[in-house]
Amino acid sequence: MRKNTISTQAHANIALIKYWGKRNETLFLPTKSSLSISVPTLTTTTSISINTKPSDILHLNDKKAPEQAIKNISRFLDVFRKQFSIHDHFIISSQNSFPTTAGLASSASGYAALTKGLNELYDLNLPSQELSLLARRGSGSACRSINDGFVLWHKGEKDDGSDSYAEQIFPSSYWPEFCIIIAILSTQEKQICSRKGMQHTIKTSPSYWQWVNESEKRLPLMINAIKNKDLTTVGMLCEKDCLDMHQCMQEAKPSLNYWLPKTTTLIEQIKSLRKNSTPCYFTIDAGPNIKILTTKNYVSSIVQALKNFEQTVQIIAPQ
Ligand code: PMV
Repeated sequence: MRKNTISTQAHANIALIKYWGKRNETLFLPTKSSLSISVPTLTTTTSISINTKPSDILHLNDKKAPEQAIKNISRFLDVFRKQFSIHDHFIISSQNSFPTTAGLASSASGYAALTKGLNELYDLNLPSQELSLLARRGSGSACRSINDGFVLWHKGEKDDGSDSYAEQIFPSSYWPEFCIIIAILSTQEKQICSRKGMQHTIKTSPSYWQWVNESEKRLPLMINAIKNKDLTTVGMLCEKDCLDMHQCMQEAKPSLNYWLPKTTTLIEQIKSLRKNSTPCYFTIDAGPNIKILTTKNYVSSIVQALKNFEQTVQIIAPQ
């Protein structure tokens, strides 16, 4: 049974142990496993209805989406149509509660919401593993946004990608004090999309495979630290993984740098807050913005410090 129109939501996720690089570009298979936490303050809401004309239409935040975004969505919808022998085309409208394409994982929540929506539109009742496998074909990290809480994306071994999916390892309720504050330093679109950035890093960075090896070793340590609700170890592992990943990018030829000078300044501020007994740690993705890991008791003092740091454009913090 097909419904006429539906609306779904998904949250963005922030990787504590990162994904950067594919072993198969077509199937979006990663070179390594990764681990993330879903962020309830970053939500994508997507509505989907059937288009009676044979083309896919996409509106992003109430505006017609750029050509490239429509092409990417149609490529993903072709995967869906082929897998389920569906011939419909769609009108999709997607709203983000946060700036799009500034390294805040909008493609992850976007493709996860779309995947959940298609599942609902056609009453497919797919289990979450199947949804994750499908979302991965839109954007790798989207496979981690099907579930909330702490989520592990298994890189998988098979060539067809059937074992490369993400699953929840702890629900958010396991560690409800843990939270993420986002410090937006720029809402500008990134110059180099993560897909191209990954290809360039794998091809030209001498330290890429060393990062992959080290990062894989950090994964079980991270799982254990989350299990023990040990913020210090989670934070230190997360910072190390992020800094090593960005170093690989910076060592690529030509160098790939997603940071702004104020990114470095804010990192120093976070470290000095920490020295003054505020437990907080940073991570950064393919953009200049900073995500801060902490626990609920410290949110208001960190938010105050971010307000004092006058270069912050917007702060997104849990209530
Ligand atoms: O799935 P993509 O193409 O948005 O890549 C995500 C890459 C990072 O955000 C930098 C790291 C990660 O694991 O989320």
